[in-house]
Amino acid sequence: HDKDGMMPREQGGICAEGNLHSLYLMFNASEGAEMALPRVLAGIAAWLQGSADRNADCAFNGFVAVGANYWDTLYPQARPAELAPFPQFEADDRLAPSQPVDLFIHLRSDRLDINHLAATEMCRRLRGLAELVEEVRGFRYLDNRDLTGFVDGTENPIGPHRREVALVGDQDPQFRGGSYIHTQRYVHNMQRWEQQSLKTQEDTVGRTKLENMEYPGEAKPLTAHIKRTNLKNEDGSSMEILRQSMPYGNMQEQGLFFISCCHTPRYFSEQLRSMVVGHDGHFDHLLKYTQAVTGAAYFAPSIDFMEQAAL
Ligand code: HEM
Repeated sequence: HDKDGMMPREQGGICAEGNLHSLYLMFNASEGAEMALPRVLAGIAAWLQGSADRNADCAFNGFVAVGANYWDTLYPQARPAELAPFPQFEADDRLAPSQPVDLFIHLRSDRLDINHLAATEMCRRLRGLAELVEEVRGFRYLDNRDLTGFVDGTENPIGPHRREVALVGDQDPQFRGGSYIHTQRYVHNMQRWEQQSLKTQEDTVGRTKLENMEYPGEAKPLTAHIKRTNLKNEDGSSMEILRQSMPYGNMQEQGLFFISCCHTPRYFSEQLRSMVVGHDGHFDHLLKYTQAVTGAAYFAPSIDFMEQAAL
């Protein structure tokens, strides 16, 4: 609780610790569904919280987020101050495409069957109101590694700092406890990646592979992923985001389902710009081996906002 004791309740999945399995559902709303959806979404958020309590043994958690392009239709009464469409960037043969989606439902736990059950409940509640356009199932790979074999998430904020990074605070009182969400589904070119030497792979990330040690500052190439994404504000503070990404895929197509949660959309945008376009003539060499095929911007409001909007 903050000083007035009225900190809105955030959706549990936003800051949750990692799990073994994830299930992502992307929906587009049907025409006219905005009449019924505020109540249905408040019900979904409440169900996800209840399910988290009932399934604490497998650490179930979830959240629902509303697409930037659909927000005004669904909630015309108020809009998060910085909510904007996905920032599409393009340079040479590198493209970070935007593909707007109306609703994103993020489900995670340590049990595949519990995720499947929750997804079934989500689809039942949204039947006739929204159409499922994509489903992706993610999994933990080894010791929290991306399919490139590198540990992912090391520099994520930890402990109470996760909430400071991910949740809107007093700067936008009506939307406190909410979070700006960006997703991108990356498809890796595993064959190309595996042809690279260990040295090239480590230079590409800016960390060692097996031991996951950060390169010292002077040894970090300007094209290394962590060099491109570790950005500072004007006041010298870090532009921190909370990454909730997980590997996904099968033997035909595999990669990373990237997810950023932040109190501002600006940090993700600046990092993505730095990866794709660069401001110094360099780009992220990770992009030689992976390609984003989707990109969407959402806002995950607090449970309290959703309850209010359903009245
Ligand atoms: C760090 C993988 C996309 C932002 C890392 C690390 C890996 C990684 C292995 C180092 C360990 C860590 O600190 O987590 C990937 C892969 C991606 C991807 C495989 C896509 C296929 C992105 C995107 C962004 C991003 C799109 C933001 C626009 C970051 C940040 C860090 C990081 C902020 C921490 C940098 C630091 O302070 O050291 N990523 N990443 N990543 N990544 Fe990514």
